[in-house]
Amino acid sequence: MAKRLKIGIIGSGGIAGAHVRAYKQMEDVEVAAVADIIPGKAEEFIARHELAGAQGFDDHHRLLELDLDGVSVCTPNVSHGATSIDALQAGKHVLVEKPMSVTLEQAVEMVQAAKRADRMLSVAFQPRYDPNMQAVRDIVRSGQLGNVYYVQTGGGRRRGMPQGTFISKELAGAGALADIGCYSLDMVLNALGYPKPITVSATTSNHFGTNPKYHPQANRFEVEDFGMAMIRFERDLVVNFKIGWAMHMDTLGPTLFLGTDAGLKVTPSGSGAWDGGITSIALYHDIAGHQTESPIPVKQHQVNIFYEKIRDFVSAVQEGRPAPIPGSEIIRNQAIIDGILRSSALKREVDIVIPEL
Ligand SMILES: NC(=O)c1ccc[n+]([C@@H]2O[C@H](COP(=O)([O-])OP(=O)(O)OC[C@H]3O[C@@H](n4cnc5c(N)ncnc54)[C@H](O)[C@@H]3O)[C@@H](O)[C@H]2O)c1
Repeated sequence: MAKRLKIGIIGSGGIAGAHVRAYKQMEDVEVAAVADIIPGKAEEFIARHELAGAQGFDDHHRLLELDLDGVSVCTPNVSHGATSIDALQAGKHVLVEKPMSVTLEQAVEMVQAAKRADRMLSVAFQPRYDPNMQAVRDIVRSGQLGNVYYVQTGGGRRRGMPQGTFISKELAGAGALADIGCYSLDMVLNALGYPKPITVSATTSNHFGTNPKYHPQANRFEVEDFGMAMIRFERDLVVNFKIGWAMHMDTLGPTLFLGTDAGLKVTPSGSGAWDGGITSIALYHDIAGHQTESPIPVKQHQVNIFYEKIRDFVSAVQEGRPAPIPGSEIIRNQAIIDGILRSSALKREVDIVIPEL
């Protein structure tokens, strides 16, 4: 029987509820503590989720004094860095919600802290557990496409702009890029083995968020609702990426991988394939000189991808495995978002430099 883990949750808002529901399904996990910066909120969360014996705190430092195996960091983006670093320094393994951080500097410090503490830092990208996303990853990694030289990805919602902390520059760092763009980038970069980004030329805008016709908090909307970028990677790979919370359009098209031997088209069912919503996957290749399109069966599945991400973190802690979605890899995702924002502000191509870790 694997060790029964004691877990803490930092930040007891919306997504913390999803973490706790997953942990509560596991007999080998006890949610032993919850911390929220708003006095009384952690205790109310503990009562609502019937976490018998769990302790509530209004300061995560006090939670970290407990003998816990791991923590879920479920605070707004701006606190991901500091709370994760504190938890790692206190000897806890960390599952941090997406996006990894607000700045590249914070992401670097997080990875360095994990290394120093010899603890796991995993980033909570649940679409990785979607069977159809895994099919895309497996096909790209199989080598069937040859040398992949161009990728088009992203997606856009016709209307889908959140409110609250998500639209604050200080608390969220970025808008659509940080909220859904990070998933979309992870979808293709994970399939490609997280190649090293070199430069980016990008633009961002917020025509919808700042217009009271489209957003009820337009006067407080400080982030981008749309971003597009051309990202150059090592090995002459180019990624054409675009993401939007709002637009006057139904779709920004499929995700495409162009390789020297074959191409892969992933057609989204909704605003983008990044969340696992996939209608079809097709391989374009030549067979004995005949141009062929081969459909890859799309699975109708019941996998609870959120549960699977939490379970994988728990099992990795128990088994002493490396982080399932390591911060040392996702730092490239964060560096690209950082580069997109810099390029957009400067209106020119910028270098992406990730310091030695
Ligand atoms: N994986 C997903 O599907 C998913 C979905 C939604 C949100 N998220 C991510 O989860 C994070 C939280 O989002 P949310 O919607 O739950 O936000 P929320 O505002 O509902 O909850 C955040 C909570 O953290 C608390 N908090 C703030 N700073 C804190 C600190 N220093 N210490 C302890 N508590 C603190 C707040 O008081 C609040 O209760 C965001 O980073 C978001 O991107 C992920």
